Parts: sequence; C-alpha cells; structure tokens
Amino acid sequence: MSTTINPNKALWEKGDFSRIAESMRESGEALVAILGITEELEVLDLGCGDGTTAVPAARLGANVLGVDIARNLVEAGNARAQSLGLANCRFQEGDASDLSELEDDSFDLVVSIFGAMFAPKPFDVAKEMVRVTRPGGRIVMGNWIPNDPTLVAQILKISSSYAPPPPEGFVSPMTWGVEENVIERFAGAGVPAENISFERDTYTFDFSGAPSELVAEFRAYYGPTMNAFEAAAASGREADLQTELEALFNAQNASPTEHATSIPAAFLRVTVAV
Ligand SMILES: C[S@@+](CC[C@H](N)C(=O)[O-])C[C@H]1O[C@@H](n2cnc3c(N)ncnc32)[C@H](O)[C@@H]1O
Repeated sequence: MSTTINPNKALWEKGDFSRIAESMRESGEALVAILGITEELEVLDLGCGDGTTAVPAARLGANVLGVDIARNLVEAGNARAQSLGLANCRFQEGDASDLSELEDDSFDLVVSIFGAMFAPKPFDVAKEMVRVTRPGGRIVMGNWIPNDPTLVAQILKISSSYAPPPPEGFVSPMTWGVEENVIERFAGAGVPAENISFERDTYTFDFSGAPSELVAEFRAYYGPTMNAFEAAAASGREADLQTELEALFNAQNASPTEHATSIPAAFLRVTVAV
C-alpha cells in the first residue's frame, strides 16, 4: 500500500514548532484577552500549534477545540492541556483546507493565528472556516504581511531567496496578509466585504537568549527555516543564510540587553462577522 506524502503536513511535522511558540506565549495571551471570550463559548483554534491561543482561551472558560495538521503539535497541545488540568481544551489532527470531520455551524468563534494562512487552497480554507462558524459568530485570523519590514516577513523573504522556485500553482501563504485577497476569499464563501474588518497588530517574540540563539532555534526547529538551510547547503550557501538571519534578528532586537531577545513583528488581524 503506498501512502502519499502531504508536503504541507511534512513541513510542519519536520521540526518542532513548540520551540518557537515558547517565545510567542505572551502575545498569544494578550490577543486572546481582547477577543471577548466568555464561559462556554465554543471556540475552534485552527492551525493551533501546541495551543498558544487555544490554552488561554480555555483558561477563560471557553470550550476549545484545537485543530492542526501536525501530529506532533496536536500531541504537544493535548499534553499541555492535560498538565494544566484544562478538560475544556482538546486537540485533534485536521486540515484547514478540508474540515469534513467538523459539522456546519459548530463554533461561536474560529481563531486562526498564523495557522490557516499556511494551508493550501485558500478559497477552500475560507469556505471551511465560514461553514463551521454559526451564523452570528466570528472568525479572527492573524496573518503575516508580505514585504513587511518586520521579522517574520523578512525571515520568509530571506529564506525564499535560498530555496528553489515553488511548484507551479503554489499560492504563497503571505497572500493572506493582503486585504484584497482576504476580501476576495471570504466573498467566495458568501461573506460580504462590509462584514470584514482589518487591524494592524503586533506579536512579540520574547526569548531568554541572544538573537543568534533564537536564530539557532529557528534553524533547528522551524520547518520553513530548516528547509531553507537544506536548500542553502545544497548550493554551499549555508553560512550566507546564517549571516543574513543573524543580522536581521540583531537589527530587530528591541531588548535593552544583547543577551535577551524581544522582537516585535507586525501582522494583519482580520475579523469576519459570519
Ligand atoms: C506558525 S505556526 C502557528 C501555530 C499557532 N497558531 C501559534 O500561534 O503558535 C503554523 C501552524 O499551522 C499549522 N498548519 C499548517 N498547515 C495547516 C493546515 N493545512 N491545516 C491545519 N493546520 C495547519 C502548522 O502545523 C502549525 O502548527
């Protein structure tokens, strides 16, 4: 029996995003705090990783389901929820492009922070998010912004200059950071533009080591950066990529000491009234 590899799943199972997520917990909590989460709200966190937003939402009393394509992150999320005694927070594997295991109109709030943007077939993703949200509910997405001068857009930009060109038909995840694309994709799911609002927001990466040590975490554990280093190694340019990333992280570090790292990164917060 042959099994087909899903490259999207393989990319995120390759490393261990939990290691990066450790630096994003405070911003995750701060974001969840402004979402008006109340007890018993039914929340879906899509592309949830190990629960940076799912866990604080559950702490506020919501019933949270985290769905992620990466099995290792689903396991890590369930382990976190269990160790925190959060019986109202569970994680399962699933693909944001096809949520057929979830019923229509199941959630009051669908949250996807730098999650669903990485799924292929963005029009299907928008349809699925709308389908599982009950009428009167909300979708909140956090999407990195293409060509933004801050951290994540620059990591992805630098990385892509070392990688081979993407396969034909590939839609960059960063296109979710462009308002017109978001409007078009939700229009395809039947949501009018006036139901969609946009805010520019900031996530801060906080790490207790120097910026170069955070680069090392990305190199060892963040799938897209791991792939970039593999591509760079194939053309003998690993050291150039390392130098470029270290220069970027150092330049963006807002910490008063060079032995710690605090890097703010801009993103587009999208709120959709369903
Ligand atoms: C940058 S991480 C963000 C994780 C989490 N939302 C957070 O804020 O820590 C992207 C996440 O999206 C997940 N992902 C990528 N493609 C997906 C897909 N097609 N369906 C569901 N999750 C996906 C990855 O496995 C990964 O956990």
